[in-house]
Amino acid sequence: MSKITISTLNRMKAAGEKIAVITSYDASFTQQIEKAGMDVILVGDSLGMVVQGHESTLPVTVGDMVYHTANVMRVSERVMVVADMPFMSHGSPKQALDTAGRLMKEGGAHMVKIEGGAPQLDTVRHLTARAVPVCGHLGLMPQSIHQLGAYRVQGRGDHEGERILKDAVGLQAAGAQMLVLECVPALLAEEISKALDIPVIGIGAGVDTDGQVLVLYDMLGITLHGTPSFVHDFLAGAGSIQGALAAYVKAVKAGEFPASEHTFT
Ligand code: KIV
Repeated sequence: MSKITISTLNRMKAAGEKIAVITSYDASFTQQIEKAGMDVILVGDSLGMVVQGHESTLPVTVGDMVYHTANVMRVSERVMVVADMPFMSHGSPKQALDTAGRLMKEGGAHMVKIEGGAPQLDTVRHLTARAVPVCGHLGLMPQSIHQLGAYRVQGRGDHEGERILKDAVGLQAAGAQMLVLECVPALLAEEISKALDIPVIGIGAGVDTDGQVLVLYDMLGITLHGTPSFVHDFLAGAGSIQGALAAYVKAVKAGEFPASEHTFT
């Protein structure tokens, strides 16, 4: 089977074929994920919470991200791999370029993900003008947890929703080639997915985005901090990790996940 690239994902969006994304941080899970037919792996800084046991993603370092990305890349064959730029690693365009360089050259990532809207546009322009593929991340941005005060739905209300839509359009114009939308009302996510040409991947954003992403440990029912309401435990019905991953891919492709109980209005 041919490798998944951003061109593949663009074609999938155009054809209305859903994109299945999951986080991974190591080689063994990555091999299982490949076998399940996943399209994209996100080496998320969620590893700070689910692997390292921190209360938030803030303590994750660039070194941690490079290490885990390299673990994933060592066995990945077909999937496209996106690596997170961790907290305080993208404060200026120059710092972001240094971080992205490490994630791509040492880690081997195909794309980097950066949280933030308007304040990140210069950085996204700087990276994409220098051959760094960028995925934006809007809605609930876990690196802003101490400003937000809690992990909660974003974009409720016209003003907030319009700001997120404007940020999404701005990120695409700055050169971002993919967007993650986290914990926003389903109607807003649908509007943004339709407004953008680039693939929009939702988590807690309803079924009408171009694809879905979940944190691997959450969808296997392994949670240190409690299971978010938008997550389904795919292991419970499947009996094996391989079965759970395959069921997730199937449900995403069929537009059966997320269901209404995993969706915010
Ligand atoms: O770090 C991560 O795993 C993420 C996903 C929740 C989208 O950013």
